[in-house]
Amino acid sequence: MSFGPETKASVLVTGASSGIGAEIAREFSRHGYFVFLLGRNSDKLRKVQASCSGPTEILAFDLKDLKNYQNQILKLIETGPNFEVLVNCAGIFHREAFAETSEDIWLEQFEVNLLSSVRLTRLVWPLFAKNKKGSILNISSTLGIKPTPGTSAYSAVKAAMTNWTLSLAQEGGPFNIRANCVCPGIVDTPIHDFHILETEAKNQVLNSVSNLQLLSEIGKPHHVAKSAYFLASDESPWTTGAILSVDGGINLK
Ligand SMILES: NC(=O)c1ccc[n+]([C@@H]2O[C@H](COP(=O)([O-])OP(=O)(O)OC[C@H]3O[C@@H](n4cnc5c(N)ncnc54)[C@H](OP(=O)(O)O)[C@@H]3O)[C@@H](O)[C@H]2O)c1
Repeated sequence: MSFGPETKASVLVTGASSGIGAEIAREFSRHGYFVFLLGRNSDKLRKVQASCSGPTEILAFDLKDLKNYQNQILKLIETGPNFEVLVNCAGIFHREAFAETSEDIWLEQFEVNLLSSVRLTRLVWPLFAKNKKGSILNISSTLGIKPTPGTSAYSAVKAAMTNWTLSLAQEGGPFNIRANCVCPGIVDTPIHDFHILETEAKNQVLNSVSNLQLLSEIGKPHHVAKSAYFLASDESPWTTGAILSVDGGINLK
């Protein structure tokens, strides 16, 4: 693994194979970071790797199996250039009426959307504390602040993630570990079914979605990535415990 002479620090981005996480990875890469790209699908990760501006390393596995990869991850981040940032972005969405939502779905939502991030954060926390520098960015959701019908499991888990970020900020402060959260609104990524619709049908959905927002443009991964980079990097050295809505104003409508 080559870190490159000009790499200033390293960042691990989960969910880096697609959508918002892929764009966050590219944003950090553009700013000279070495990026660990974590996702399940190696082909997609390789495509993102090819689109990054600097050196990266792929970590392809299911976060549900994190315990089998913990040592490998620790070794990698300890040997790389200053490991300073963890972005917990991997996630799955589930839309179903509460009455129909099975316990298995609830468990999966908690496992992937929250516990995976908790476990990864527990893994890197001692290193951040030892180095007296670290930044954790959680990607929650506007639904974690204001749920809509049919999203109870997802919304509850994202609300937990937002609140957990505040606890991390409180306990991380004495170690110079920052913890912040970005809550995206509706962003056009493969997490939504409308991603696979034909152009006309997709445009109809996107137009109706944009009516829900103050700003008419539908969210794009780069909208979130810019805010994510700003909060998680040294651009915001004195910001911790921030919950930033990046949602076209959907919460005010
Ligand atoms: N798009 C939105 O409207 C929106 C709004 C609010 C919040 N968010 C949040 O933003 C984050 C990114 O979503 P996105 O819209 O970019 O979705 P996406 O394009 O579907 O990307 C999801 C990412 O999570 C990874 N992932 C899912 N389950 C995983 C697991 N068990 N182990 C490892 N990686 C896993 C996927 O990896 P593979 O591709 O390799 O499977 C993929 O990289 C999520 O946390 C989501 O809840 C999205």
